[in-house]
Amino acid sequence: MTTHKVGYLIGSLAKDSINRRLAKALVRFAPPELEMSEISFKDLPLYSYDYDADYPPAGKAFKAAIAAVDAVLFITPEYNRSIPGGLKNAIDWASRPYGTNSFTRKPSAVIGTSPGAIGTAVAQQNLRSVLSFCNSPHMSAPEAYIQFKPGLITDEGEVTNDTTADFLSKFMQDFRVFISRIHSALPKDA
Ligand SMILES: Cc1cc2nc3c(=O)[nH]c(=O)nc-3n(C[C@H](O)[C@H](O)[C@H](O)COP(=O)(O)O)c2cc1C
Repeated sequence: MTTHKVGYLIGSLAKDSINRRLAKALVRFAPPELEMSEISFKDLPLYSYDYDADYPPAGKAFKAAIAAVDAVLFITPEYNRSIPGGLKNAIDWASRPYGTNSFTRKPSAVIGTSPGAIGTAVAQQNLRSVLSFCNSPHMSAPEAYIQFKPGLITDEGEVTNDTTADFLSKFMQDFRVFISRIHSALPKDA
């Protein structure tokens, strides 16, 4: 069995984040071939290229965490029709200094939940644009726009709706296949 390390970033810093609940559900549904671990970005300062000459420990640790995984899963809310600033700041840290972009050839997937009917669709499109520029091959299907209704996912990550549970399980299985395909086509040491 080939295993893949997946680092997941939760776009929300809120303690009662519904996207953190979604992340817990996705960890539950991850097939055994995927080793899931959270990569936190909450300690990163606001990025400036002034840091490039001497990255602070938090920046180095964040880049190292991205480098250590085989794939990245973004689980993000939509803030003002885009991704939260904290998540964009984290991506900027990992993408620099110039020539050391941590996302190059790193497979990724995007998912998110919001109470709104379009379930983070616009934020995800924004994020896909960023990932394209960062040269991260991202899974284009299935798209996953999860409308959060009260009680849909418990604090422990239990999904109470069978259709949503099946969909999230399939999403993680598809991500496993996508990661394998990308690593076959674009070996890490190539
Ligand atoms: C600053 C801000 C902007 C928001 N903008 C959007 C938005 O553009 N689209 C949307 O569906 N929900 C929006 N919301 C509502 C969020 O979907 C809702 O707060 C959700 O709980 C955020 O996910 P989280 O709990 O994981 O942080 C916004 C919330 C905040 C705090």
